[in-house]
Amino acid sequence: MLEMPKQKGPPILVANWKMNGNLQSINRLLCDLKRDFLDKELGSGQVVILPPHVYLQIVAKDLSGTSILIGAQDADERETGPVTGGVSAKMLLDVGCEYVLLGHSERRNLFNEGDGVIFQKLKQAVKVGLKAIVCVGETLEQRNSGQVLEVISNQLKPIISQEILPQSEELLIAYEPIWAIGSNKSATIHQIGYALSEIRKILRDVDINLSDSTKILYGGSVTEKNIAEILALDEVDGALIGGASLDPKSFSKICRIAKTI
Ligand code: 13P
Repeated sequence: MLEMPKQKGPPILVANWKMNGNLQSINRLLCDLKRDFLDKELGSGQVVILPPHVYLQIVAKDLSGTSILIGAQDADERETGPVTGGVSAKMLLDVGCEYVLLGHSERRNLFNEGDGVIFQKLKQAVKVGLKAIVCVGETLEQRNSGQVLEVISNQLKPIISQEILPQSEELLIAYEPIWAIGSNKSATIHQIGYALSEIRKILRDVDINLSDSTKILYGGSVTEKNIAEILALDEVDGALIGGASLDPKSFSKICRIAKTI
């Protein structure tokens, strides 16, 4: 049977602010973003901002009534209880989050998060109804030794288990090659297309509905210069943006370009 190409929806842009900013700079950034969004509004749900945890509520309040959605950069793998410093998925929902980023390479490396913990976090997130964006991607060493597919597949397989399938609408995957993060050296269009189509194949092998419902994003040195050709790729449903999302001019430009795709 001939396979119909998957229909692409409008692209989703996710701004990962990481551990940057303070009250003053965040207020300024929000002010600039809102001014640009009032007259150049993207569809609801097309832009998601992930501020540091402590600023979530302020940002959520400030952006309420706009089309911009809020998410968190991480969530704990436990539901509640004696976890000093922990923030649960339910708490994130409580303060207005709709999304949560999980398994970012910085979490994997700096906090030693393995696939098992990431899966527990994913379970908690989808249980409360948060949309989870799970990051996968290889180091430069792994790429140079031809291990891209193996790495992606090993990171993906543990998280797309039978337990998650019923909640597959809540899952997004972000391909972020570690060498492309903050390096000013995005993956090439060919590399992005290849990795994302392999991710789609892995999802399809597990479940056709999972493959159809999962949005796949690219992240790693996305700027206003490369966003158009990245989003134009059939395989790409959106972008995860770090550095450029902290500059209101760059981010607004990226949003404006995305609107034309
Ligand atoms: P940069 O866009 O700064 O490369 O960061 C990418 C990233 O890690 C987003 O999660």
